[in-house]
Amino acid sequence: MTGASAGIGAATARELARRGFHVLAGVRRDSDRTPLQARDIEPVILDITDAGHVAALAARVERDPRPLRALVNNAGVPGAGPVEVMPLSEWRRIFEVNLFGHVAVTQALLPALLRGNGRVVNISSLNGKISMAGYGPYAASKFAMEATSDALRNELAPHGVQVVVVEPGGVQTEMSRAGLAALTRLGDGMAPEQHARYGALMRAIPAHVAAFTKAGVTADVAARRIAKAVTDRRPRTRYTIGATAAFLIRASRILPDRMLDRMTTSDLRRHYPTDDRGRTTPRVPIRGA
Ligand SMILES: NC(=O)c1ccc[n+]([C@@H]2O[C@H](COP(=O)([O-])OP(=O)(O)OC[C@H]3O[C@@H](n4cnc5c(N)ncnc54)[C@H](OP(=O)(O)O)[C@@H]3O)[C@@H](O)[C@H]2O)c1
Repeated sequence: MTGASAGIGAATARELARRGFHVLAGVRRDSDRTPLQARDIEPVILDITDAGHVAALAARVERDPRPLRALVNNAGVPGAGPVEVMPLSEWRRIFEVNLFGHVAVTQALLPALLRGNGRVVNISSLNGKISMAGYGPYAASKFAMEATSDALRNELAPHGVQVVVVEPGGVQTEMSRAGLAALTRLGDGMAPEQHARYGALMRAIPAHVAAFTKAGVTADVAARRIAKAVTDRRPRTRYTIGATAAFLIRASRILPDRMLDRMTTSDLRRHYPTDDRGRTTPRVPIRGA
């Protein structure tokens, strides 16, 4: 399990341990070991972008006589900001964690998973299926994780390893806090014409994220759903978390792009700043161009 220091990862580590698994719980700092320490939870130092940590994890797994039942790729970083203004170095950092880190851990543990007929459970997002203004970098990394999961599922199906994707909607964790700090830094670095283009959007995102997260499920609810994806005897290829994700992902399969655009834009628009007459500023078109 990667990203077990907090949020969904910590709750899932506890839930899996409660169900009788011995959980290798990846954390990046020594100080994050202690709060997790419990019977059947073994914290391991794991930054998924650090090749040395990933190799040490693989060696730890190889030393264990028990079969590796599942790898839960949960670690993730937020990445909100307009495509134009997000620096390339940030795009790369987001992909380094949300995609390449998971590929690295998966590659390293596949020999053990193949031996044990284990399972890969990738924690994607509603944004792995739906992208919208202001969420491009994060959504791109999750779309990429979805595509990688589809390929891997088909590659490994003949070899006894199942690949499952979990798509949460809002979950009440601290993830948004880190994202909003990064968004403020991004806004501080924007040129005046970029402020004119994206200032209102940038101001809407924190309120949108806060409302989305507040309306979400708890990390414990998410953990139970992930544990189901880990343990179902005949798992589905995808599990959503929360009613919003279930509804919107289903809708995205059937609605035309322009209609989805209108839905996501009007959802964001509710959080745009307003002028003294209560009108959204600047006026945001919500009808297809
Ligand atoms: N919360 C939501 O509403 C939501 C919605 C959809 C999808 N998700 C997805 O669910 C997963 C968990 O999110 P969360 O809400 O629980 O977020 P969170 O509370 O911020 O936890 C993220 C976890 O990822 C870890 N992490 C970050 N960078 C890492 C790296 N380089 N190597 C290893 N671990 C790293 C963090 O460790 P540190 O503490 O060391 O930073 C932390 O343990 C993410 O993949 C996220 O995209 C969340």
